[in-house]
Amino acid sequence: MTSRAIIVQTGGGYDKVQVGTREAAAPQAGEISVRLHANSLNYHDFAVVSGMWGPTAPRIPMADGAGVVTAVGAGVSEFAVGDSVVSTFFPDWLDGQPLVEGFASVPGDGIDGYAREQVTARATSFTHAPKGYSHAEAATLTTAGLTAWRALMADDSLKPGDTVLVQGTGGVSIFALQFAKLAGATVIATSSSDDKLERLKALGADHLINYRKTPAWGEKVRQLTANRGVDHVIEVGGPATLEQSMIAARIGGHVSLIGILTGVAGNLPLVQALVRQIRLQGVLVGSRAQQQAMVRAIDANGLRPVVDKTFDLEQIVEAFRYQESNQHFGKICLSI
Ligand SMILES: NC(=O)c1ccc[n+]([C@@H]2O[C@H](COP(=O)([O-])OP(=O)(O)OC[C@H]3O[C@@H](n4cnc5c(N)ncnc54)[C@H](OP(=O)(O)O)[C@@H]3O)[C@@H](O)[C@H]2O)c1
Repeated sequence: MTSRAIIVQTGGGYDKVQVGTREAAAPQAGEISVRLHANSLNYHDFAVVSGMWGPTAPRIPMADGAGVVTAVGAGVSEFAVGDSVVSTFFPDWLDGQPLVEGFASVPGDGIDGYAREQVTARATSFTHAPKGYSHAEAATLTTAGLTAWRALMADDSLKPGDTVLVQGTGGVSIFALQFAKLAGATVIATSSSDDKLERLKALGADHLINYRKTPAWGEKVRQLTANRGVDHVIEVGGPATLEQSMIAARIGGHVSLIGILTGVAGNLPLVQALVRQIRLQGVLVGSRAQQQAMVRAIDANGLRPVVDKTFDLEQIVEAFRYQESNQHFGKICLSI
């Protein structure tokens, strides 16, 4: 079947984004066909589409896709026609310890992604979506949701009474705030905007810091925690924030190295890491089993993602320009 697809030409760049068509075959054994209805945007997808890390061949972008199963191949018992599903970031990393390095097997980067109407893929490229979620809500889980879940619940084992620091109001950080509150943790949240801080408060953040007005926010975090520091830091800033994150962390605290919003290189404050015995953990999204655990937790608690704005599939460049403008709070989605 021929269906609409967004295609980014080799090298990427907004002027190399086209609307085209792609064929979706009938499912073979172990495969399912999905009518996709939504994508969500991530910084990684932006890097592919904008040409920052452009593709080496023409590529359908977007790692996060959600939709409805339209056909099931032989031997697939996990899904039935009509099921709502959401894609997995690493179709080859099903369970256990990390098995992947980089993005060669990631939809929307090394292989074709989900900015299209129809796809036929291995059943393990999807999991069930949470009950009652819209497709846009489900699409937010693949990258941002799972990264936050894995950092707090798989790499660390967050418990009631722990304290978590989240940085800014992007998709990963807002999910981390929501999962941390679900686990009974105290949350300290930062943003460059007082208005956005108020919205974080409405989502349950216990303490708020404007990182523009308080550049030494690590010290502020220590004050807020009676000088103990936080148990867990969701580190999305990178070189410009890591030092403050280490000041904010408790002795033996866990810092999840997730983002590179301020660049990819800088001075690493090794002494802080060493004397305070901080656990620095690199994070690259998560496994399919971790995604299934996250969906179970959402089903049990009714957590809803924060979707800021939804654009049509053909407005993909406009959507990324909006993401670049940093006006958003939570996730930006595409409707297919
Ligand atoms: N390793 C992984 O598995 C993984 C997975 C997903 C994302 N990431 C990375 O994580 C980062 C965030 O991703 P995202 O999708 O959540 O991005 P996003 O939705 O685009 O979030 C951007 C937000 O981050 C905040 N921010 C920007 N500079 C900051 C700074 N210096 N200090 C604190 N906050 C700052 C801003 O919040 P305010 O406007 O409130 O200031 C901004 O709105 C990106 O670098 C992305 O590549 C990594």
